[in-house]
Amino acid sequence: MTVLLHVLLLLSAGISLCLGDKPNIIIILIDDMGFNDVSFHGSNQILTPNIDALAYNGVLLNRHYVPNLCTPSRATLLTGKYPIHTGMQHFVIVTDEPWGLPRQERLMPEFFRDAGYATHLVGKWHLGFWRKDLTPTMRGFDHHFGYYNGYMDYYDHTVRLLDRNYSTGLDFRRDLEPCPEAEGIYATEAFTTEARKVIERHDKSRPLFMVLSHLAVHTGNEDNPMQAPEEEVAKFAHIQDPKRRTYAGMISSLDKSVGQTMRALADNGMLNNSIVLLYSDNGAPTVGIHSNAGSNYPFRGQKESPWEGGIRSVGALWSPLLQQRGYVSNQTIHAIDWLPTLAAAAGVQLPTDLKLDGLNLWPSLSGGTEPQPRKLLHVLDDVFGYSSYTAYTLKYVNGSSFEGRYDHWLGELHAGEEHPLSADYAQLVRASEVQAVLGNGGPTEDRIRQMRDEATQRCPIQEADQDDPIYLCEPLKAACLFDLANDPCERYNLAKLYPLQLQLLAEDVEELRLTALPSARVPIADKRADPALHGGNWEWWNNTSTGSSDSLTLPSLRWLCVCLLNFLGPVNIKLY
Ligand SMILES: *[C@@H]1O[C@H](CO)[C@@H](O)[C@H](O)[C@H]1NC(C)=O
Ligand SMILES: *[C@@H]1O[C@H](CO)[C@@H](O)[C@H](O)[C@H]1NC(C)=O
Ligand SMILES: *[C@@H]1O[C@H](CO)[C@@H](O)[C@H](O)[C@H]1NC(C)=O
Ligand SMILES: *[C@@H]1O[C@H](CO)[C@@H](O)[C@H](O)[C@H]1NC(C)=O
Ligand SMILES: *[C@@H]1O[C@H](CO)[C@@H](O)[C@H](O)[C@H]1NC(C)=O
Ligand SMILES: *[C@@H]1O[C@H](CO)[C@@H](O)[C@H](O)[C@H]1NC(C)=O
Repeated sequence: MTVLLHVLLLLSAGISLCLGDKPNIIIILIDDMGFNDVSFHGSNQILTPNIDALAYNGVLLNRHYVPNLCTPSRATLLTGKYPIHTGMQHFVIVTDEPWGLPRQERLMPEFFRDAGYATHLVGKWHLGFWRKDLTPTMRGFDHHFGYYNGYMDYYDHTVRLLDRNYSTGLDFRRDLEPCPEAEGIYATEAFTTEARKVIERHDKSRPLFMVLSHLAVHTGNEDNPMQAPEEEVAKFAHIQDPKRRTYAGMISSLDKSVGQTMRALADNGMLNNSIVLLYSDNGAPTVGIHSNAGSNYPFRGQKESPWEGGIRSVGALWSPLLQQRGYVSNQTIHAIDWLPTLAAAAGVQLPTDLKLDGLNLWPSLSGGTEPQPRKLLHVLDDVFGYSSYTAYTLKYVNGSSFEGRYDHWLGELHAGEEHPLSADYAQLVRASEVQAVLGNGGPTEDRIRQMRDEATQRCPIQEADQDDPIYLCEPLKAACLFDLANDPCERYNLAKLYPLQLQLLAEDVEELRLTALPSARVPIADKRADPALHGGNWEWWNNTSTGSSDSLTLPSLRWLCVCLLNFLGPVNIKLY
């Protein structure tokens, strides 16, 4: 009897040991926002006091890198691997194409669920839905409220393909069921409301893992791309260009959402044990396909290009678990790193056979230590034929996208379009909802101005004349080499001056190419996708299940087992 009691006590202690102190993980994923479109990078045109307060109270990730496009970027976050190592390196999943993130990849929500977390995806997926077993609730998320495709209408949540003869289809679901209930509600608000409900209803005895994956600030359908609530757009009368003004309204609504999400965490007693990561999946598309008038200036290029404008993204990390907070990080960090970094921060064991490309940078970010130098692959797309790679501060660019149409410095903001409140910027940040939630002990106005200055990107003018043909970069003709430490804006091609260095980087890329899987893309317009065949919804058109056990097991039993095994591990050793 006493032995049984003892065992029960041990077990319950084990469970609380496993779950009690695991932090909640909240990832706020923004779509297509430019580096220059948060005010913490120095712009006075669109003010983002909530996002900025999150960064100033936490770690402002000033060298945060991502793949240059939605589908590869999201695949990278969830796998901790480069797109070339999952087959996701080429283009995005077009609505009627029959492919997705391969089933053999195990995903971040699966690892967190196995460790006892409740797992939620609110918003965008874009990793495939043509087969039912590719959809989020079949891949580790207990719950999904949102859409499968790359974009949709902000209000009626339909997707229309203008170059096809399909009927218009609703792309909005609650788990596996089509969900017309949010009809007419602006997407950012609908997702924020759901995120708040997830937080309110969350069983507080377990940790929460939530990806809040916004439609904002991507465009809507091609025939109505720019959509924002009128009252938000009205706050930006100082912006002349109506497209950019609407974009500002989209951002303003998003900024409000960040405040509301933080408020919900606080009101539910969860904030003091949470890690909140916010970033944009890639740079803004200033011009061209799905352009939203976003700005990555002064960086070169934009979304879907090999340049810094496509891959150096807005990022911030906040948590009371960070030992050092309130600083601008120079640590180069990439989307491949978030799986090992967040797992380590949460004490979640990852399988040892995962072959991750990323590193655990939690100790470095939390300690605010000297940045570790990195070698990073940014693009390797042998179908479009271009690549982009950095070894420490040297960057290699070979080939380009769209015949080089995005190779320029795009999105310079008009002078004299300062927000009327920008003179009181630091005060505005201190008066934000996020700062109210985090308390008054936040950074002083002076400290805010200082961090903002550190995070403002300038392009040093070199003594060398940038018009000298020796510095000209024509990536469609020959590979280029840049020194990002002195030339973050990629103005001076050093390939002709340092051919040996270029060769070394080219060899690294060659080595990586040998490890690449073929592109998983199936570039077929599959007519079976037509919503007319699926009750007016965008829905899988193949019901095959490739042996997923996800829908059959009870997650709660699974975490219990994992937990007990973890806890009993040392006991077992004693028995041997
Ligand atoms: C759409 O339908 C029209 C009329 O039937 C046809 O001419 C056109 O080729 C079709 N387009 C596509 C992309 O199937
Ligand atoms: C967090 O706050 C809750 C409720 O306010 C409290 O019960 C809990 O002990 C706190 N946890 C930590 C780690 O401070
Ligand atoms: C980060 O790098 C910038 C130069 O790029 C430098 O001015 C700044 O002092 C660095 N910050 C720290 C904390 O080392
Ligand atoms: C650039 O790419 C082309 C085409 O893939 C290749 O032939 C060439 O060797 C590359 N140049 C360098 C320096 O890597
Ligand atoms: C469904 O998908 C499976 C696995 O990819 C494939 O073998 C099968 O042919 C597909 N069925 C249809 C009807 O497309
Ligand atoms: C898939 O299953 C749904 C019902 O869940 C059914 O309506 C549809 O016809 C099935 N599609 C295929 C291709 O078997």
